[in-house]
This record gives sequence, C-alpha cells and structure tokens, in this order.
Amino acid sequence: MRHVRDHGYPAPRVFDAGNGWLVMERLEGTDMLAGTRKTPRGVTSAGKLLADLHRRLGAIKAPEWVPVGPGPAGDRIIHLDLHPLNVMNTPDGPRVIDWANTRRGDPATDVANTWSLLACGEVPGGRVDRALAVIGRGLLLRTFLASLDRAAALRAMPALVEWRLRDRNHTDAERQRLRRLIR
Ligand SMILES: Nc1ncnc2c1ncn2[C@@H]1O[C@H](COP(=O)(O)OP(=O)(O)O)[C@@H](O)[C@H]1O
Ligand SMILES: [Mg+2]
Repeated sequence: MRHVRDHGYPAPRVFDAGNGWLVMERLEGTDMLAGTRKTPRGVTSAGKLLADLHRRLGAIKAPEWVPVGPGPAGDRIIHLDLHPLNVMNTPDGPRVIDWANTRRGDPATDVANTWSLLACGEVPGGRVDRALAVIGRGLLLRTFLASLDRAAALRAMPALVEWRLRDRNHTDAERQRLRRLIR
C-alpha cells in the first residue's frame, strides 16, 4: 500500500504495520456501487472509473520482494481483488482498499480477475433484485472491458480461474460459471 501510494495511486495511508497487522487511515464513505446512481449513465461511469483504476495500477512496477502471483509473468503490481466493493467513494475521490491478495504479475491477470468476479459472482437478494443486478452488472462489465485489452485478459483467464477455484469461499454455482467462462 505504501509502495503504490508513493507512486501516486489512491490507497489509504498506512501509519504502522507488522507481521499480520496494519494501522491505516480511516476512510469516510461507502463502496463505489452504493454511491453510484442505478441508471445506465451511473453504471457506465462506474465501469470507466474501475477501468481507469486498473490501468493506473498496471503502470506501477512491483518491488523485488513482492511474491509472484497467478497468470502470465509480469513485473507489475496486481491487486487480485480490484472490484467495485473494494473501491471506496470518499470526499477526496476514489480509494482502493483490501490489498491482501496483492502479487507481482501481468495487469491482464487483474483484468481477468475482475471480469471473472463480475461475470460469475453470486448476486444476493430476491429474484427480481437479482435479475436487475445481473443486468446492471453486465453493463458494468461491458464498460469496464471497453477500454482494456480483452484479448490479453482472455489469455490470462485459464490460469486465473485455476487460482480462483482453489478459493474455498466460492459456491458450487460460482465454480460452474467459472469453468464455463474458460470454456
Ligand atoms: N481504510 C478504511 N477506512 C474505512 N473503512 C474501511 C477501510 N478499509 C476497509 N474498510 C471497510 O471494511 C470492509 C472490509 O474491508 P476489506 O479490506 O475490503 O476486507 P474484506 O473484503 O476482505 O473483508 C470494507 O468493505 C470497508 O467497508
Ligand atoms: Mg473487500
């Protein structure tokens, strides 16, 4: 988090950190989607912002000590959880939180990861809420991908999905959708 902040990236300020703990700036605000108007324009601007946060992070080189992550080799910082719920809307602009998965890799892997989450993740709520959320998420995904390198993300997808499938938190339905995504 300190490294990316030093490179101008909007992560919370870190005051102190040790092995397994960290004291950081407390942000004011809510996640990016809670603050997004549920209109086509609100959703497309969220997609563009998310793409921009990916592009900016993908420009930052990883220090030597950052462990190698899944996917094609690369020398950049990849967050591996850079989705709307980990972007907070604050009075000072967006801030990216939840850096626990951070590795060294190819930015296309980060794009593939967010793609897989938006395409395969479970949507909570009742039937109608879920149906609406799935439509909104489809639009979010299309605008997110519009300005990014889809072909590179697709090349990174099989290894990314392998890595995701090792995560025990996924439901069976999510696992099935992840396998379908690489097919
Ligand atoms: N620096 C922060 N300031 C204020 N709230 C935070 C901060 N970091 C995390 N949170 C809140 O805690 C929640 C969980 O934190 P997060 O790092 O995303 O962990 P996880 O999603 O793995 O539970 C976030 O969704 C956010 O609401
Ligand atoms: Mg989180």
